[in-house]
Amino acid sequence: MNENQYLVNFYNHYNEDARLTSRHGSVEFLTTMHYIQQKIKPGDRVIEIGAGTGRYSHALARQGYTVDAVELVEHNIEIFKKNTLPEEHITITQGNALDLSNFTDNQYDITLLLGPLYHLFTTSDKCQALREAIRITKSGGIIFASYVISDGCLLDEGFHRGNIDVAEYVQQGLLNADTFAAQSKPKDLFELVRKEDIDHLMASFPVTRLHYVATDGCALFMRESIDKMDESLFQLYMKYHFSTCERSDLLGITSHALDIFTVNK
Ligand SMILES: C[S@@+](CC[C@H](N)C(=O)[O-])C[C@H]1O[C@@H](n2cnc3c(N)ncnc32)[C@H](O)[C@@H]1O
Repeated sequence: MNENQYLVNFYNHYNEDARLTSRHGSVEFLTTMHYIQQKIKPGDRVIEIGAGTGRYSHALARQGYTVDAVELVEHNIEIFKKNTLPEEHITITQGNALDLSNFTDNQYDITLLLGPLYHLFTTSDKCQALREAIRITKSGGIIFASYVISDGCLLDEGFHRGNIDVAEYVQQGLLNADTFAAQSKPKDLFELVRKEDIDHLMASFPVTRLHYVATDGCALFMRESIDKMDESLFQLYMKYHFSTCERSDLLGITSHALDIFTVNK
């Protein structure tokens, strides 16, 4: 099977549009937006690579930013288009994060790479996606790159919920039997990493890290509790989350991480 076909089949049957709208799912969205709002300036040009159905792209376009979006999967593009309001200055192009040759160098102030790195399985592909994101971003521009973190997923989907059979993953070589480091292939859909893998990837690029964030922390692990919170408890939880999500002693216990860096050219 073509490597992208696993991904297309998955997103054809997955409600990506709803993923960030539950209260526990909103922690990832609110956290990413919190950092974008800290960095974005009036008039900034924005691109989202792997835009899905456009939750971030549309939110920023509705604030008045001009946004270009790129997405691999046609099904997500159709929903992205349906979600577009007439007043938005937004484009969506079908394309691959590995080859953004339709986009010229140094165009964007803010580049969002929130998703493709979940689905790239070799160091060379991950570096290529990062290289392309850096190429189209202006010097001094800011890139937001997100990852799926293995320990958060293993604790939540594995030991806690049993959706991942940890023993079988070890047996199949998808998890190292001693370190529990993950290793996956396109048929497994998701590439799970640890911070040390991200640090290693980023070491060769001309960038300066601004923030490294445990985007959703324990929110998926404790989703039932979060969904039951009343508004004031949820606001307190978010205040706690924002004050702790960059603490080095908590960074590994998260389902997603957000690496925010500025480009030096
Ligand atoms: C988990 S969704 C995230 C969507 C959105 N960026 C968000 O954070 O809500 C990942 C998206 O990246 C897209 N994607 C995966 N690999 C890609 C690639 N190589 N090039 C472009 N898009 C890709 C998927 O089709 C999917 O829509």
